[in-house]
Amino acid sequence: MMRIGVLGAGRIGRRHIDLIRQSTECVLAGVADPFRPADAATLSGGARWHADLDALLSDPGLDGIIVATPNEMHVEHGLACLAAGIPTLIEKPIASTMAGGLALADAAEQRGIPLLVGHHRRHSSHIAVARAAIRAGSIGDVVAVSGTALFCKPSDYFTGAPWRAQPGGGPLLINLVHEIDDLRALCGDIVGVQAVASSAKRRHAVEDSAAVVLEFSSGALGTFTISDVAAAPWSWEQTSGEDPSYARYPSEDCYLIAGTKGSLAVPSMRMWTAADGPSWHEQMELTVLGAEPADPLERQLAHFCAVVRGDASPLVTGRDAVETLRVTLAVVEAAGPPRQH
Ligand SMILES: NC(=O)c1ccc[n+]([C@@H]2O[C@H](COP(=O)([O-])OP(=O)(O)OC[C@H]3O[C@@H](n4cnc5c(N)ncnc54)[C@H](O)[C@@H]3O)[C@@H](O)[C@H]2O)c1
Repeated sequence: MMRIGVLGAGRIGRRHIDLIRQSTECVLAGVADPFRPADAATLSGGARWHADLDALLSDPGLDGIIVATPNEMHVEHGLACLAAGIPTLIEKPIASTMAGGLALADAAEQRGIPLLVGHHRRHSSHIAVARAAIRAGSIGDVVAVSGTALFCKPSDYFTGAPWRAQPGGGPLLINLVHEIDDLRALCGDIVGVQAVASSAKRRHAVEDSAAVVLEFSSGALGTFTISDVAAAPWSWEQTSGEDPSYARYPSEDCYLIAGTKGSLAVPSMRMWTAADGPSWHEQMELTVLGAEPADPLERQLAHFCAVVRGDASPLVTGRDAVETLRVTLAVVEAAGPPRQH
């Protein structure tokens, strides 16, 4: 049993703690969060509550650590874990700046300490099956991608945390980073972006909606629309059903990926192929690819345990996550301040 520590016992940190406690591969070694009181339920299995990261790292039996602190702290905390020689799972985004992300990726490589970045959807079976089908050439060469993250955040999302109405707290930096990582995993590297952002509905200082154009290194082109004020079902969480805390619309999709021989809708996994050569006069055949619904956070933890044991290499390395951050920051820069109309 691997002994795993958790730094930061907030919203996502508590989910990691719960998953560790349910796991048959690891136990909770301890938790460090200076701003929250020790939690008796969390400590019931013998785990210790520490005042800070240094105290958690002083546990001689610590095998791995999950860093789930706010984005701006990832670099400082991640570098300290790697310097202590502890395999580290760091929440996404790897950092809030390119310099910070590169510092983490460099430190992991130079020290030879595994660094896994928490782009948890990479552990989704929907993403894995779609990626394998695309890589196997099932839809030919990808030519165009249409993606959506259209959902409505309730008003208490903002009243409970006013920073979310300020620059940095909007859907581009909070949500689009997941989408960019998915599209990179499915369709390859992104080499160019254009974008427009708007705050016409919520009137916050940060965007509520944005439209993005993507250019992939393969030559494929994509569009992505994102809005947190849209009464719509076309987002990853609402279509995949991987997180039961969101409403579910299983017949809907959020990514439409078109190739030269066929196309794939994700996450319904409906694949249309043209057996006798594609033509808009010819009916295509429909196949539904099988994907086991499973909690990607749980699968990510199992993968991290394998990484800590030395049985696997990180599925999402620091270097890989830096590329997702690079594209996301490029979208923010291309969009500029949101238009209010
Ligand atoms: N993978 C996902 O789907 C997902 C979902 C939510 C959040 N996240 C990421 O997880 C991270 C945390 O987000 P959150 O929503 O849980 O935030 P949060 O504010 O709910 O939790 C952060 C916690 O870190 C603690 N903290 C602050 N400074 C600390 C320090 N110096 N040492 C230890 N703990 C400290 C805070 O007290 C708080 O409990 C962010 O990077 C976020 O982007 C990822």
